[in-house]
Amino acid sequence: MVRTGLSSNRSPYGQRLLHRTRHAAIRAGEFQVKEPVEGDSSGCRNVSAAFVPLPRIDDMKAVMKSVNPLALPESFFSQLTEGAFLTVRAGASLNTMTIGWGMIGVVWERPIFTVLVRDSRHTFSIMEQAVDFTVTVPTEDMNDALAFCGTRSGRDLDKFEACGLKTKPGLRTASPVLDVRGVQLECRILYKTPMDPSGLDPALRALYPKHDYHTLYFGEILECYG
Ligand SMILES: Cc1cc2nc3c(=O)[nH]c(=O)nc-3n(C[C@H](O)[C@H](O)[C@H](O)COP(=O)(O)O)c2cc1C
Repeated sequence: MVRTGLSSNRSPYGQRLLHRTRHAAIRAGEFQVKEPVEGDSSGCRNVSAAFVPLPRIDDMKAVMKSVNPLALPESFFSQLTEGAFLTVRAGASLNTMTIGWGMIGVVWERPIFTVLVRDSRHTFSIMEQAVDFTVTVPTEDMNDALAFCGTRSGRDLDKFEACGLKTKPGLRTASPVLDVRGVQLECRILYKTPMDPSGLDPALRALYPKHDYHTLYFGEILECYG
């Protein structure tokens, strides 16, 4: 799902989404990677170990269909490459952003979804405090919201409100899922690791013109349903 060979002043993510979107404000130039602001922990200020009560699993599962995450169809992966929503809550902080890269597989004898989040993202500051995250891969046309959430930062505005996105509680995660038609994955962070650029193939350096590398979050898939 990783794309390479793209010019350094454009987002490596979701080129087709970019071209397809009708969102007037979205232009390729706006996809440039933002510089990380050193010491900015604005997204974490209100983060506490607040207890988030979870709903009863049995009640909610009745209306959902469980899916084997290791047997998802090709359409799931093509939509993921086009854009999906990564949603994360830590204490009082909640945000969603568009992702285009991700990996599903088995590690540590468990089904794992790995997401890659650049340090410059507001989402990163929340992920660093979170114990879990969710991924929503829409099956309805959400290109406008994907473009918006992939270019605007939760640091500056409430993307849920701006896009009219509603959330539903996670069955097993403190992070909610988006209340849209699609495949929902609820993931508990088992391991995270920042990229070590010294190990990166030089051919991929162009993807990091501002050196804001990704942190990889390996999430155990606790629930997968649609
Ligand atoms: C199609 C698409 C895919 C993207 N995939 C990723 C990704 O996998 N990892 C990442 O760090 N940023 C990715 N981005 C960029 C973020 O979504 C974008 O910078 C967003 O504004 C960050 O929001 P935040 O500051 O609220 O976290 C993607 C953008 C688009 C449009």
